[in-house]
Amino acid sequence: MAKPRIGIIIGSTRPGRFADKPAEWISARAKARGEFDIELLDLRDYPLPFFEERASPAWGPSENAVAKRWQQKIDSLDGFIIVAAEYNRGPTAALKNALDYAYREWNRKPVAFVGYGGVGGARAVEQLRLHSIELQMSPIRAGVHILMPDFLAVMQGDKGLAELDHLNRSADDMLAQFGWWVRALGAARERDGAADQAA
Ligand SMILES: Cc1cc2nc3c(=O)[nH]c(=O)nc-3n(C[C@H](O)[C@H](O)[C@H](O)COP(=O)(O)O)c2cc1C
Repeated sequence: MAKPRIGIIIGSTRPGRFADKPAEWISARAKARGEFDIELLDLRDYPLPFFEERASPAWGPSENAVAKRWQQKIDSLDGFIIVAAEYNRGPTAALKNALDYAYREWNRKPVAFVGYGGVGGARAVEQLRLHSIELQMSPIRAGVHILMPDFLAVMQGDKGLAELDHLNRSADDMLAQFGWWVRALGAARERDGAADQAA
Protein backbone atom coordinates (compact mmCIF):
# COMPACT_ATOMS: atom_id res chain seq x y z
CA MET A 1 0.00 0.00 0.00
CA ALA A 2 1.26 3.51 -0.85
CA LYS A 3 1.63 5.97 2.02
CA PRO A 4 -1.92 6.47 3.32
CA ARG A 5 -3.49 9.84 2.64
CA ILE A 6 -5.22 11.29 5.69
CA GLY A 7 -7.60 14.23 5.72
CA ILE A 8 -7.81 16.39 8.82
CA ILE A 9 -11.27 17.95 8.73
CA ILE A 10 -11.68 21.32 10.42
CA GLY A 11 -15.24 21.10 11.73
CA SER A 12 -15.90 24.77 12.49
CA THR A 13 -16.28 27.54 9.93
CA ARG A 14 -17.01 30.56 12.10
CA PRO A 15 -14.78 33.67 12.02
CA GLY A 16 -12.25 33.63 14.84
CA ARG A 17 -12.65 29.90 15.38
CA PHE A 18 -10.44 28.03 17.84
CA ALA A 19 -10.40 25.05 15.49
CA ASP A 20 -7.24 26.11 13.64
CA LYS A 21 -5.08 25.57 16.72
CA PRO A 22 -5.95 21.89 17.31
CA ALA A 23 -6.01 21.25 13.55
CA GLU A 24 -2.47 22.57 13.08
CA TRP A 25 -1.21 20.80 16.20
CA ILE A 26 -2.61 17.35 15.33
CA SER A 27 -1.50 17.82 11.73
CA ALA A 28 2.11 18.47 12.83
CA ARG A 29 1.96 15.57 15.29
CA ALA A 30 0.64 13.20 12.61
CA LYS A 31 3.17 14.39 9.99
CA ALA A 32 6.05 13.84 12.42
CA ARG A 33 5.29 10.11 12.49
CA GLY A 34 6.26 9.87 8.81
CA GLU A 35 3.63 7.22 8.09
CA PHE A 36 0.87 9.38 6.59
CA ASP A 37 0.46 12.02 3.90
CA ILE A 38 -1.56 14.67 5.70
CA GLU A 39 -3.95 17.15 4.15
CA LEU A 40 -5.99 19.77 6.01
CA LEU A 41 -9.60 19.89 4.80
CA ASP A 42 -11.15 23.23 5.67
CA LEU A 43 -14.94 23.25 5.33
CA ARG A 44 -14.65 26.95 4.44
CA ASP A 45 -13.13 25.77 1.14
CA TYR A 46 -16.23 23.63 0.51
CA PRO A 47 -19.19 26.01 0.94
CA LEU A 48 -21.87 23.32 0.79
CA PRO A 49 -25.51 24.45 0.90
CA PHE A 50 -27.70 22.97 3.62
CA PHE A 51 -28.44 19.53 2.24
CA GLU A 52 -30.63 19.99 -0.82
CA GLU A 53 -30.11 16.89 -2.95
CA ARG A 54 -33.08 14.81 -4.13
CA ALA A 55 -31.72 11.74 -2.36
CA SER A 56 -28.95 10.66 -0.06
CA PRO A 57 -25.58 10.39 -1.83
CA ALA A 58 -25.88 6.70 -0.88
CA TRP A 59 -28.47 6.31 -3.64
CA GLY A 60 -27.32 8.48 -6.50
CA PRO A 61 -24.90 11.10 -7.77
CA SER A 62 -25.12 14.60 -6.32
CA GLU A 63 -26.04 17.59 -8.46
CA ASN A 64 -24.31 20.37 -6.58
CA ALA A 65 -20.82 21.21 -7.93
CA VAL A 66 -19.29 21.80 -4.47
CA ALA A 67 -20.78 18.51 -3.27
CA LYS A 68 -19.15 16.70 -6.19
CA ARG A 69 -15.80 18.32 -5.42
CA TRP A 70 -16.17 17.38 -1.71
CA GLN A 71 -17.05 13.78 -2.58
CA GLN A 72 -14.05 13.50 -4.92
CA LYS A 73 -11.78 14.77 -2.18
CA ILE A 74 -13.20 12.36 0.42
CA ASP A 75 -12.93 9.51 -2.09
CA SER A 76 -9.22 10.22 -2.59
CA LEU A 77 -8.37 9.80 1.11
CA ASP A 78 -7.72 6.71 3.26
CA GLY A 79 -8.81 7.98 6.67
CA PHE A 80 -9.88 11.07 8.57
CA ILE A 81 -9.14 12.95 11.75
CA ILE A 82 -12.04 15.21 12.61
CA VAL A 83 -11.32 18.30 14.70
CA ALA A 84 -14.63 18.76 16.47
CA ALA A 85 -16.08 21.74 18.29
CA GLU A 86 -19.12 21.19 20.49
CA TYR A 87 -22.14 23.39 19.80
CA ASN A 88 -25.09 22.84 22.15
CA ARG A 89 -23.81 19.41 23.13
CA GLY A 90 -23.53 18.19 19.56
CA PRO A 91 -21.37 18.60 16.47
CA THR A 92 -21.42 21.80 14.44
CA ALA A 93 -24.11 21.96 11.79
CA ALA A 94 -21.46 22.63 9.14
CA LEU A 95 -19.68 19.38 9.97
CA LYS A 96 -22.84 17.26 10.11
CA ASN A 97 -23.90 18.70 6.75
CA ALA A 98 -20.51 17.85 5.26
CA LEU A 99 -20.82 14.27 6.55
CA ASP A 100 -24.27 13.99 4.97
CA TYR A 101 -22.91 15.21 1.63
CA ALA A 102 -21.05 11.98 0.88
CA TYR A 103 -21.66 8.32 1.52
CA ARG A 104 -19.80 5.72 -0.50
CA GLU A 105 -16.69 7.89 -0.28
CA TRP A 106 -16.62 7.50 3.55
CA ASN A 107 -17.22 3.73 3.52
CA ARG A 108 -14.72 1.33 5.05
CA LYS A 109 -12.38 4.06 6.26
CA PRO A 110 -11.26 4.85 9.81
CA VAL A 111 -11.98 8.09 11.61
CA ALA A 112 -10.41 9.57 14.74
CA PHE A 113 -11.47 12.65 16.69
CA VAL A 114 -9.88 15.64 18.38
CA GLY A 115 -12.53 17.42 20.47
CA TYR A 116 -12.34 20.60 22.50
CA GLY A 117 -14.54 22.66 24.79
CA GLY A 118 -15.98 22.46 28.30
CA VAL A 119 -15.80 18.67 28.39
CA GLY A 120 -13.29 18.26 25.61
CA GLY A 121 -15.95 18.08 22.93
CA ALA A 122 -16.89 14.63 24.30
CA ARG A 123 -20.61 14.98 23.69
CA ALA A 124 -20.10 16.08 20.11
CA VAL A 125 -17.55 13.34 19.49
CA GLU A 126 -19.84 10.60 20.82
CA GLN A 127 -22.58 11.74 18.42
CA LEU A 128 -20.06 11.87 15.58
CA ARG A 129 -19.07 8.28 16.29
CA LEU A 130 -22.70 7.24 15.74
CA HIS A 131 -22.96 9.25 12.52
CA SER A 132 -19.75 7.72 11.24
CA ILE A 133 -21.02 4.18 11.88
CA GLU A 134 -24.02 4.90 9.65
CA LEU A 135 -21.55 6.09 7.00
CA GLN A 136 -19.85 2.68 7.31
CA MET A 137 -16.70 4.12 8.79
CA SER A 138 -14.72 2.72 11.69
CA PRO A 139 -14.52 5.26 14.52
CA ILE A 140 -11.52 4.33 16.61
CA ARG A 141 -11.63 4.07 20.40
CA ALA A 142 -8.89 6.49 21.39
CA GLY A 143 -9.60 10.19 21.05
CA VAL A 144 -8.05 13.48 22.08
CA HIS A 145 -10.13 15.72 24.33
CA ILE A 146 -8.95 19.24 25.07
CA LEU A 147 -10.75 20.05 28.31
CA MET A 148 -11.75 23.47 29.64
CA PRO A 149 -8.53 24.43 31.52
CA ASP A 150 -6.30 23.64 28.53
CA PHE A 151 -8.84 25.00 26.08
CA LEU A 152 -8.92 28.34 27.92
CA ALA A 153 -5.14 28.51 28.40
CA VAL A 154 -4.55 27.93 24.70
CA MET A 155 -7.38 30.24 23.62
CA GLN A 156 -6.00 33.05 25.77
CA GLY A 157 -2.52 32.48 24.35
CA ASP A 158 -0.98 31.40 27.69
CA LYS A 159 0.03 27.99 26.30
CA GLY A 160 0.46 26.24 22.97
CA LEU A 161 -1.03 22.77 22.53
CA ALA A 162 2.42 21.36 21.68
CA GLU A 163 3.64 22.41 25.16
CA LEU A 164 1.06 20.23 26.92
CA ASP A 165 2.69 16.83 27.42
CA HIS A 166 -0.48 15.01 28.47
CA LEU A 167 -2.15 16.09 25.22
CA ASN A 168 0.88 15.11 23.15
CA ARG A 169 0.76 11.65 24.74
CA SER A 170 -2.97 11.40 24.14
CA ALA A 171 -2.45 12.40 20.49
CA ASP A 172 0.33 9.84 20.03
CA ASP A 173 -1.82 7.05 21.51
CA MET A 174 -4.65 7.98 19.20
CA LEU A 175 -2.41 8.23 16.13
CA ALA A 176 -0.83 4.84 16.85
CA GLN A 177 -4.25 3.20 17.10
CA PHE A 178 -5.51 5.11 14.08
CA GLY A 179 -2.47 4.01 12.03
CA TRP A 180 -3.32 0.36 12.67
CA TRP A 181 -6.87 0.84 11.38
CA VAL A 182 -5.68 2.87 8.41
CA ARG A 183 -3.39 0.03 7.34
CA ALA A 184 -5.87 -2.74 8.14
CA LEU A 185 -8.80 -1.15 6.34
CA GLY A 186 -6.59 0.01 3.46
CA ALA A 187 -5.50 -3.59 2.87
CA ALA A 188 -9.11 -4.80 3.16
CA ARG A 189 -10.37 -2.19 0.67
CA GLU A 190 -7.67 -3.20 -1.79
CA ARG A 191 -8.72 -6.82 -1.43
CA ASP A 192 -12.53 -6.50 -1.21
CA GLY A 193 -13.44 -3.11 -2.69
CA ALA A 194 -13.81 0.38 -1.36
CA ALA A 195 -17.55 0.58 -0.79
CA ASP A 196 -20.36 -1.61 0.42
CA GLN A 197 -22.40 -2.40 -2.67
CA ALA A 198 -25.36 -3.42 -0.53
CA ALA A 199 -25.80 0.12 0.82
C1 LIG B 1 -23.47 27.99 19.12
C2 LIG B 1 -22.49 27.56 20.16
C3 LIG B 1 -22.81 26.59 21.05
C4 LIG B 1 -21.89 26.12 21.99
N1 LIG B 1 -22.21 25.08 22.80
C5 LIG B 1 -21.23 24.51 23.55
C6 LIG B 1 -21.48 23.27 24.21
O1 LIG B 1 -22.55 22.71 24.17
N2 LIG B 1 -20.45 22.70 24.88
C7 LIG B 1 -19.21 23.29 24.96
O2 LIG B 1 -18.32 22.73 25.56
N3 LIG B 1 -18.96 24.47 24.34
C8 LIG B 1 -19.93 25.08 23.64
N4 LIG B 1 -19.68 26.26 22.97
C9 LIG B 1 -18.39 26.92 23.18
C10 LIG B 1 -17.37 26.36 22.22
O3 LIG B 1 -16.74 25.24 22.81
C11 LIG B 1 -16.32 27.43 21.89
O4 LIG B 1 -16.96 28.59 21.39
C12 LIG B 1 -15.34 26.93 20.84
O5 LIG B 1 -14.38 27.95 20.61
C13 LIG B 1 -16.07 26.58 19.54
O6 LIG B 1 -15.17 26.12 18.58
P1 LIG B 1 -14.73 27.03 17.35
O7 LIG B 1 -14.18 28.32 17.95
O8 LIG B 1 -13.65 26.26 16.65
O9 LIG B 1 -15.93 27.29 16.51
C14 LIG B 1 -20.60 26.73 22.05
C15 LIG B 1 -20.28 27.72 21.14
C16 LIG B 1 -21.19 28.14 20.20
C17 LIG B 1 -20.79 29.19 19.17
